[in-house]
Amino acid sequence: MSMNPELANWRMEEIDDTVVLTLDVAGQSSNTLSSAVLEEFDRVLGQIEGRPLKGIVIRSAKTRSFIVGADVTQFRTISDAMQATGLARTAQGVFSRLARLPFPSIALIHGNCLGGGLELALACTYRIAREDEGTRLGLPEVRLGIHPGFAGTVRLPRLVGDLAALDLMLTGRSVSARQALALGLVDEIVPDRHLLDAAYAFAARHPRPKRAPWWKHVPSWSVLRKPVVRLLQRPLRKKVDPEHYPAPYRILDLWRRAAAQDAEALSLGEMMVSRTSRSLVDIFLIGEELKRRGRRQPHGVTHVHVIGAGTMGADIAIWAAFKGFRVSLQDQNQEALARAIGKAHGFYRKKLRKRAAIQDAMDRLMPDTNGNGLRRADLVIEAIIENADAKRDLLKSVEGIVRPDTLLATNTSSIPLEILGEALKDPSRLVGLHFFNPVAQMQLVEIVRGRQTGEEALDRARAFTVAIDRLPLDVQSSPGFLVNRVLMPYLIEAMVMVEEGVAIEQIDLAATRFGMPMGPVLLADTVGLDICLSVAEMLAVPLGIQVPERLRETVARGNLGKKSGRGFYVFDKSGRPKRKAVRRHSDVPVTERMILRMLNGAVACLREGVVSDRDAVDAGMVYGTGFAPYLGGPMRYAEALGEVGIASSLKRLAHEYGSRFDPDEGWSRPELLSHRMLPQD
Ligand code: NAI
Repeated sequence: MSMNPELANWRMEEIDDTVVLTLDVAGQSSNTLSSAVLEEFDRVLGQIEGRPLKGIVIRSAKTRSFIVGADVTQFRTISDAMQATGLARTAQGVFSRLARLPFPSIALIHGNCLGGGLELALACTYRIAREDEGTRLGLPEVRLGIHPGFAGTVRLPRLVGDLAALDLMLTGRSVSARQALALGLVDEIVPDRHLLDAAYAFAARHPRPKRAPWWKHVPSWSVLRKPVVRLLQRPLRKKVDPEHYPAPYRILDLWRRAAAQDAEALSLGEMMVSRTSRSLVDIFLIGEELKRRGRRQPHGVTHVHVIGAGTMGADIAIWAAFKGFRVSLQDQNQEALARAIGKAHGFYRKKLRKRAAIQDAMDRLMPDTNGNGLRRADLVIEAIIENADAKRDLLKSVEGIVRPDTLLATNTSSIPLEILGEALKDPSRLVGLHFFNPVAQMQLVEIVRGRQTGEEALDRARAFTVAIDRLPLDVQSSPGFLVNRVLMPYLIEAMVMVEEGVAIEQIDLAATRFGMPMGPVLLADTVGLDICLSVAEMLAVPLGIQVPERLRETVARGNLGKKSGRGFYVFDKSGRPKRKAVRRHSDVPVTERMILRMLNGAVACLREGVVSDRDAVDAGMVYGTGFAPYLGGPMRYAEALGEVGIASSLKRLAHEYGSRFDPDEGWSRPELLSHRMLPQD
């Protein structure tokens, strides 16, 4: 029986003096806590708080989630810190009202229970989670450059203990229902069919609510707070630059001060309007938009056939089978296949842990020497050596075997799709699916459109990419597509500086201090200098890039980087580069040369229409290379520097170092720079 027809997002029923309140946010596939949702929740609490009820059960009507967090799209409408603080205080107020109800409240959790959703559950008397792999609980706020703001920093330590709470908040990681039970984050885990009964039982029994045992609060003794923070900061500093990402340091600071809800709200306000948070939120939302575009059509794929079990083919096959697809992996080389299967086993063991799940994944991945899987394949991904003739011959023979509706894809990094399509009777079915190395870490996949690629092939390729939990980004088939095209000038400039005598350690340090995940010299060594050289040579003519002699010489001597133990760096047995100490120099001249070449390339891609808009450039570089996420990608960084200023810096560098720095004409075309994926406020 619904008592409240004017509620748009909540459904309220009353069964046997217990209110069951179901959240079903209108028009969304998962629940988020917008102001409207919170405001309705507050009204409901107002209606029931004076009544003699046995309890209230809060659950979600969505299939895959309880509540995924605050409404991130609303973050972009916040213009100042006070406004953000005000929103946090409002939510804190609603949750306090929930916590103060005179009868027990029970959160029934299935699927994702994240951020503000978990904070709501924390304000309940009890939490019961559905026992399955799909249930995940966590406070991922740091990943958006903020920290919990709906009293999570206050309530979580009380429930699970200080160190466990800090770990969850600092890493933003989520835990399964079983782990949540072990942590004390939930009171009980039960199968789906028992959820509601378990809730009624808790309401009837009303046991004493859980709290972490006293010893889990030892770190919060006032004499210990400071040393504990120092201890936790040390490893954090190695991974996270506080200037770029202040939020985790804020979490520690709030905890050190034993801050109350009001201090949490004030701090959240500041974090929310920081450049870091704005950038991370934008990049997250662009990622969501790419997924949304990918979900518009069905992919129609159950069986994937991958040809080439080398570095990339093996990883793609392993990943697709991990994500539930049936995969056959073909290679003419038995050893390559054996290596791939060994690698798969190691990967699944690490990720899946449970024996049955590992076995299932292994069963989905079939080594295939003769290409038997081709006849059954809905999608074929070619990942053999980077040679146009070899790929063309292969695609031609594949077309003769597969069904007419099988989608054909290539993982080529540099060969134009038009050239590969020549081998096919129907080139409209050929699309580029350009993955990045390592596949399990890099979220981006470039969806490459050749002149003849058909819309249906593109739609299916995007949808498949989303289905394996990667982000599809449309790019035109042009040299280097987007990511390599923008990255290569940066790598080359680093090598030019090596030739000039700048220490490799200094170059890499400048790049990591800027916010790159790895310096360019170490990156080149890690990818393999032979691969870098071949991509550089491929791009040299069309893009007018000069390949540094030093790179050719190093490769000619057989020093291919990490895989051969020596490249620009010498690597120790465990694959770590030996670094020499360098004197402290200013990073600016080094960073400026590398980054401005990258920005210049990014604008050239926009001008040539390689991607549709500047947000696509940012998403590509952040998700494909890890480009300083706190800056929000190259185009957001360029905007902050000012386009006019960049053009004049490039002119100065061109004067000093040559025409490779000539500013791209795109800098003086504001109409090019104004296209975006996200709405502008
Ligand atoms: P790789 O040399 O590691 O592996 C190629 C594999 O293909 C070898 O195992 C070889 O035995 C097999 N092979 C060659 N011809 C074959 C044929 N006709 N039939 C069946 N198997 C055959 O190469 P890698 O690095 O995996 O590159 C593969 C493709 O992926 C290339 O097109 C490359 O440009 C592209 N790519 C490479 C990236 C990287 O970082 N290595 C990144 C993104 C794309």
